[in-house]
Amino acid sequence: MPNSRKRRVEVCFSPSQYHLYKQEFEIAVVIDVLRATSAICAGLEHGIESIIPVSTIEQAREYQNQGLPAAAEREGKIVEGFDFGNSPYAFMNPELKGKTVALTTTNGTKAIEIASDMPMVVIGALTNIDALCAWLVEQDKNVMILCSGWKDKFNLEDTICAGAIADALIDSNKFKADEDSTIAAKFISRSAKENIFSFLKASSHRRRLKKLNLNEDVKYCLTPNSVTAIPYLVDGQLQKLQFEFKAKSLA
Ligand code: MLT
Repeated sequence: MPNSRKRRVEVCFSPSQYHLYKQEFEIAVVIDVLRATSAICAGLEHGIESIIPVSTIEQAREYQNQGLPAAAEREGKIVEGFDFGNSPYAFMNPELKGKTVALTTTNGTKAIEIASDMPMVVIGALTNIDALCAWLVEQDKNVMILCSGWKDKFNLEDTICAGAIADALIDSNKFKADEDSTIAAKFISRSAKENIFSFLKASSHRRRLKKLNLNEDVKYCLTPNSVTAIPYLVDGQLQKLQFEFKAKSLA
């Protein structure tokens, strides 16, 4: 396809830079590999009907008071008074099947809220990367990949995932990238590809989660393609997109 007809895919490293990118894109892919978006993908894959992402603990508590299962995480820990935080394994609980769950996390749900003025918001993680890329390639739309980062700072794990998505879309020959952030994300992702786990050994959130004994969560989140669910935002709730993914590795 000639370059002039290609759609754009770009990586935004932090929610604090979202305003610099947002005008030119129709789809936002929000990523928080460790662990919010991996947990959301796991939940919808395992039968949760919908997830309401909220940015504050108070909002999550309101839903809890209305009788909804509610999850809250801050600094990697479960917030007091809530049954679970954002461990992906908690979102696989069979008791949550068919239910609507409210969720607030330090960075991930905040990034989703920031991106919610985009015509379409979908959720990405390493765990759903091939299905997500296959769906994105079928859309004739400009795609912005928003990394949730850590408190508005750059982080490695989201960048690795974002770079892999950008690489896969550009490989499809339907997308091009102009921004240096996208080029950097692609290079980081390629360097990490062979062993993401060891590449991230020294990364800040991996260290934070290790201290909290959450290594199993990290292993789950860094293992690509365990699910095919693609969550998307509809009326403030995340639901599973209807898309039949035919397994063929793109990422
Ligand atoms: C977040 O949203 O900041 C993360 O998911 C934090 C975590 O891993 O607990």
